[in-house]
Amino acid sequence: MPAITPKQFQFIASLAKEYWGLHLSERKMDLVCNRLAKFLARSPYDSVDSYLEHLTSSADEEDRLVFFDILSTNVTSFFRERQHFDYLEREFYTPLARGATTLPSRRIRFWSAGCSTGCEPYSLAIHAAEHLPELARWDFRILATDLSNSAVQAAQAAVYPAGMVESLDQTIVKKYFQRGAGEQAGMVRVAPETRALVSIARLNLMEDWPMKGPFDVIFCRNVMIYFDRPTRERLVNRYCDLLRPGGILAIGSSETLSGINVPLRSVAPSTYVK
Ligand SMILES: C[S@@+](CC[C@H](N)C(=O)[O-])C[C@H]1O[C@@H](n2cnc3c(N)ncnc32)[C@H](O)[C@@H]1O
Repeated sequence: MPAITPKQFQFIASLAKEYWGLHLSERKMDLVCNRLAKFLARSPYDSVDSYLEHLTSSADEEDRLVFFDILSTNVTSFFRERQHFDYLEREFYTPLARGATTLPSRRIRFWSAGCSTGCEPYSLAIHAAEHLPELARWDFRILATDLSNSAVQAAQAAVYPAGMVESLDQTIVKKYFQRGAGEQAGMVRVAPETRALVSIARLNLMEDWPMKGPFDVIFCRNVMIYFDRPTRERLVNRYCDLLRPGGILAIGSSETLSGINVPLRSVAPSTYVK
């Protein structure tokens, strides 16, 4: 494994901060070292320095995104952190079904920001199909974005190892997934009607956003964990600008908004309302 010198690590950390808002603490040095070693072993670069030199002199956006994939973590799963889905069922779908909430129109927009390989937005789509009364009568869409090229491609393909749905209720699996056969044996694919509810796009959360909102629900879970406090504060305020009054923001259960100045009230663990 090529050892990274503290100076090289500092340099890598400064690029990650500048391009993507990632805060790489010294504790990440071994992880970065391991991943960089794997990448360099199958790359034309013969040293860490020559790769870093390339990144700062001749790299284009696509090259930089390869570097992003080396540094970032895409871990995700279906119906991860179930409490947010339970909250939506209780406080969003049930009041809608009872007529206790009236929305200004039949338009409902969710955003899964930092969607990784798509388990989160597809879980939201399945959950909506289960709990939104007469789904077809609503203009219901989920926007799913991530910066990682490989994650976005996987989300668009919507194909997963069958093991990833093993712990789900099997009625749900039958209803919303297709089992692969032949070369695709052992894989499942999200069913077309569920995929149709989700639009997937590449987006760097640190850059300008083309969407205008308003969103009813934003999930940004296990993404801000990599950002420092000022970056989180800026980002969450931008989410607030796009949330409608009464809109919901869910963050990862190991993340916090404490000490951050945002127009949100906490309504449940890691769940906020504008
Ligand atoms: C650990 S995954 C979380 C996936 C999903 N939200 C969940 O909780 O299961 C974090 C994701 O954030 C994305 N990410 C990190 N920094 C980003 C940025 N600046 N812009 C867009 N996506 C980013 C990564 O590519 C990764 O897919």
